[in-house]
Amino acid sequence: MKMSVAFFVFLKKKGEFLVLEKVNQVPIKFVFGKGSLKNIGVLTKSYGKRAFVVTGRSSTKKTGVLDRVIGYLKEKDIDTVVFDEVESNPLTTTVKRAASLLKEHECDVVIGLGGGSSMDAAKCIAFSAVNEGDISDYIFGKEGKNALPIIAITTTAGTGSEGDSLAVLTNPETKDKKSLKSPYIYPKVSIIDPELMMTLPSSMIAATGFDALSHSVEAFLAKNSRSDIEEMALEAIGLLFKFLPKVYKNSTDTESWEKVAYANTIGGIVIDQAGVVLPHGMEHPVSGLLNATHGEGLAALFPKILEFSYKGCQEKFLRMAKVIGIEEQGLTKEEAALQCVKAFEKLLKALDLQVTLSQLGVKETHVDWLVENAMKTMTYAISNHPIPCKEKSLKELYVACL
Ligand SMILES: [Fe+2]
Repeated sequence: MKMSVAFFVFLKKKGEFLVLEKVNQVPIKFVFGKGSLKNIGVLTKSYGKRAFVVTGRSSTKKTGVLDRVIGYLKEKDIDTVVFDEVESNPLTTTVKRAASLLKEHECDVVIGLGGGSSMDAAKCIAFSAVNEGDISDYIFGKEGKNALPIIAITTTAGTGSEGDSLAVLTNPETKDKKSLKSPYIYPKVSIIDPELMMTLPSSMIAATGFDALSHSVEAFLAKNSRSDIEEMALEAIGLLFKFLPKVYKNSTDTESWEKVAYANTIGGIVIDQAGVVLPHGMEHPVSGLLNATHGEGLAALFPKILEFSYKGCQEKFLRMAKVIGIEEQGLTKEEAALQCVKAFEKLLKALDLQVTLSQLGVKETHVDWLVENAMKTMTYAISNHPIPCKEKSLKELYVACL
């Protein structure tokens, strides 16, 4: 696979698998490549003897990936306890139930197998196993002390959870959807096997892929970004613009999947370092309240947020315009930045992701709650946005996206 290695230190090549270590400041060992899943036994062995495998209700069973994981672990004498009850937008109550099951079975390592929901739930279960009390308190700032070792196996190119110390949960009582951020929930090892992503339905490829793109765009625009993060994010934006429509049209295109999977993991790394901004800041309340698909919520909000933002950070939009192939000749800077906004709209069209908040179930009567909840749960993301944004602008944006 040929791609930039500017930020990856390739320490060794084991057979056909790339083992990437010391990526920027992220202390994760990334095992990347088609077929790399089969390393799960040997990689887990260093961390435990009884693995708690966290996954969703159906997809990893249907595709046979769960059975393969159990088999590879068994070959290395690692017992497994499977928890297969993770929902999309995983709940704090699900994590609590799973953590007591883990303790009952005395598991010593946690494997998150699936998309972002499964990996995020796995992180929170590993964290809850050693930190007493309600996980919501830790999500709202209480400090943890440790976590069981976590191995992430991503089957989607979406959340980038395999590359960060974040895990998003929804509290079913308050509808707060917010990240736990803790250095203890970095996966020890992340397996990124593009082959596992090829069986996704096309609507999931589009929605999760757009989430990945959103991560890189947001980290690039973030006030808290820095030059090395900006360069990584730009590389991912360029790759996703080019290759996401290709895998959406042809999910068996292995080479394009490699690029998309790599860019997705970069998306996780960059939000870990720079944070997200307004799209995630405004989307979490939507999927927290209505259990909407995260990537679709982002798609509904993204164009209007870019329109609201591009004039205030024109230079950054011009840099994005370059990597997504916009020809600037004959255009003023402002026109080129606007072309960049339009290119995102075109991409959403190509991914059949032109949705509105109304189509996701949002009503005008929800808007005040969404604004209030965004200010409460996503304070950091809103203040990290490059353009100042108060309640009034949030309200106008939500209404414009209905
Ligand atoms: Fe996301």
